[in-house]
Amino acid sequence: MDELKKIADYMVTPGKGILASDEPPELLESKFQQLGVANNEETRRTYRELLYGTHGLEQYVAAAILHRETFEQKAKKGILPGITVDQGFDILPGTTQETITLGLDSLSTQCASYQRKGAKFTKWRPAFRIVDDISPSAIAISTNAELVGCYAAICQQYGLVPIIESDVLLEGSYTIETCAKVSKMVLEEIYSSLKRHQVYLQGVVAKPNMVLAGLSAKSKPDPSTVAKYTLDTLLDSVPASVPGIAFLSGGQTEQEATTHLEAIHRQAKMTKQPWQLTFCYGRALQATCLQTWKGKAENVEKAREQFLYRCKVNALAYKAA
Ligand code: 13P
Repeated sequence: MDELKKIADYMVTPGKGILASDEPPELLESKFQQLGVANNEETRRTYRELLYGTHGLEQYVAAAILHRETFEQKAKKGILPGITVDQGFDILPGTTQETITLGLDSLSTQCASYQRKGAKFTKWRPAFRIVDDISPSAIAISTNAELVGCYAAICQQYGLVPIIESDVLLEGSYTIETCAKVSKMVLEEIYSSLKRHQVYLQGVVAKPNMVLAGLSAKSKPDPSTVAKYTLDTLLDSVPASVPGIAFLSGGQTEQEATTHLEAIHRQAKMTKQPWQLTFCYGRALQATCLQTWKGKAENVEKAREQFLYRCKVNALAYKAA
């Protein structure tokens, strides 16, 4: 338990964040296609080498989530390696195209193997879509929460810190109030499942969505409203014993994700809250970097500069006055 706590605390080191670089090949397909880059194992490895080889990355990044395809690619000294252990999604029968996360069957074997290879933590991603009053349904929330509880308990048995992700998807036209209501329901179910499964909460890291209006909502709340809704929702539903909260970016632009994180830090200085707060971003660290790279060796250093800049501004977001 001491070791789990030590890892979890390190992952949310103040002034640093977590890099999500575990996009599955099918998710990189459209991004690579737009750049005219072939999407194969070699190009994906080259791209990840660009990220991990960035000089100075360890100043701003405490941990990196890797994809199994590139797990052998060593992240830098001082950056803890973690691994995605879910096997994607399937449709949950009896719902309107809602999903459950797959991978529990092989999880013990995977954990044993990745732990031997040096992994320190794991990720498992449940996703919840807001569609009017239809979804997320009670059954999708409770089934996914149950799976997260099993996943977390198994990972901890192998000395791996489970990231507790709860991804209320940004696609939709919902209001921030709806997002707050749904996020609270999801978080409450997940943390009650962790309790049932006797998960050691000081040895996990939370990775929720920020509380936002949907991507196609008519009006967008300002950053201070986002910060207030986000922290109020988390204070209502995430136990104080969890050491840290590392937000996912969820399809926000790079600028939005940074501005919102700064606003959350600003608000957190006024509200009493028990956790370290930081980022666990994928797209919001990599978008400009990818655009700059375009698959060309001569662009690698320029792309690294862009990537490091995004890591830095998010890592320093806690200094927002
Ligand atoms: P985004 O920040 O791109 O949402 O990715 C984070 C992540 O790991 C989602 O599971």
